[in-house]
Amino acid sequence: MLLRVFILIGVFSISLISFCQSDLPDDYLPKEFHAARRDSLRNRMPTGSVVAIFSFPPRTFSNDVQYVYHQNPDLYYFTGYNEPHALLLVFKEPQSLNGMNYNELFFVQQKNPGQEQWTGKRLGTEGVKKQLGITNVFNGAEFNNFPINFSGFDKIIFDYFPDDVANEPGDKADLADLISQFRTKAGITPDFTKDKKFSTGLYMQMTSALREVKTDEEMNLLRKAVEISCIGQLEVMKAARADMSEREIQGLHEYVHKKYGAENIGYPSIVGAGNNGCVLHYIDNNKTRVGQQLLLMDVGAEYHGYTADVTRTIPANGKFSDPQRQIYELVYQAQEEAFKLCREGASWQELGTKARDIIAEGLLKLGIIRDKKEAGKYYPHGLGHHIGLDVHDKGFSSRLKKGMVITIEPGIYIPDDSPCDKKWWGIAVRIEDDILIREKDYELLSSFAPRKADDIEKMMAEKSALDDFTLPKLKSGKKGF
Ligand code: GLY
Ligand code: MN
Ligand code: MN
Repeated sequence: MLLRVFILIGVFSISLISFCQSDLPDDYLPKEFHAARRDSLRNRMPTGSVVAIFSFPPRTFSNDVQYVYHQNPDLYYFTGYNEPHALLLVFKEPQSLNGMNYNELFFVQQKNPGQEQWTGKRLGTEGVKKQLGITNVFNGAEFNNFPINFSGFDKIIFDYFPDDVANEPGDKADLADLISQFRTKAGITPDFTKDKKFSTGLYMQMTSALREVKTDEEMNLLRKAVEISCIGQLEVMKAARADMSEREIQGLHEYVHKKYGAENIGYPSIVGAGNNGCVLHYIDNNKTRVGQQLLLMDVGAEYHGYTADVTRTIPANGKFSDPQRQIYELVYQAQEEAFKLCREGASWQELGTKARDIIAEGLLKLGIIRDKKEAGKYYPHGLGHHIGLDVHDKGFSSRLKKGMVITIEPGIYIPDDSPCDKKWWGIAVRIEDDILIREKDYELLSSFAPRKADDIEKMMAEKSALDDFTLPKLKSGKKGF
């Protein structure tokens, strides 16, 4: 008897240990979050309406190899599902069919052990019910004959259909099939925008209004993404040297992201030395030596779907030259003054105008422009945007609200051969921070990465763990790699 008790205790503790030590992250958005988001969507929907949300398609990397799958952020937001070939239907009013009552239906990718051996586990209908807490879940193949009478709805609301969806041979329930079956059932012709029954505008409006204000659960993940990105920036400040390549520096950032469990980058990393920094979304990152120039690093980690967007500009050799510092200080001042306006109720426009005025005034004083109207040549982008499940996240309101997370990112970019003194050529500075809007002020989420010119120089003088990390020179190839 005693032996049996010991065996039982043993088995119990082993299973408890293996349960507790699943070696998987335990901080995904909870299923209650997604259910609450679907309820909030339902509250916003007009009477007699249905919303359809499709997954993103898998996308080709090369031949028969696909990019790592990235879900449609809307579908992820409302379900937590991270697989392709799915359709969510949310109904305003309760529906019933053959004794089944529902106000949402979810069609997902069917389990298939043969394919799962190649591409990994699928949740399947039972997994979705259990893990994501959605009740009415069906295999995609069941959608075609599912008797939904779409003509009975006053409004059918959906996003524009992606135009790069492949019909997979031999599969009758892939995304292309789901979209085509939905279009047939709902009577969506190519010129559907002329029929008021269909609305993509409402889709954009409702999903933006929800996603632009972050919940506490979302903030946990966004804070983490921003913190990870800042640690990357800070470590690179310590490690950067003139003889490093842009790609190597990109790798250091992205290594730090991975070290902390970030699955993705939120956007292709921008690491541009000198003139390369003048290309706003520079992603070639192929300069083999960053040299003595300014190094613009716009790099954001994506953690469980949420992405940071942080830019730091540093002197690659550890010390700002006078012209570099003058431009840096001007961008810093524009950012500081914009920060001061950040609070609930402030308009995007007033923030943008403030930063633009300061930059225009400063460029004029430095003799880089002769008229403030020319400032747009060197500061050609807006001041900021929402971040969240998209790096340029959905937003709807012209004024800031408590709970929004936005970037403040002024910049000055003076390409080689610009009509100004040569000493300014190739100087590109962007300082980009992520902030949470509060009722009376804001929280600087990205404060961990130094912003002041002096603080950056101090940080760059510190020793890096990577100083002693050396690898052998390649036997093949040129340029010292
Ligand atoms: N990283 C892109 C942007 O700053 O908007
Ligand atoms: Mn940005
Ligand atoms: Mn950015």
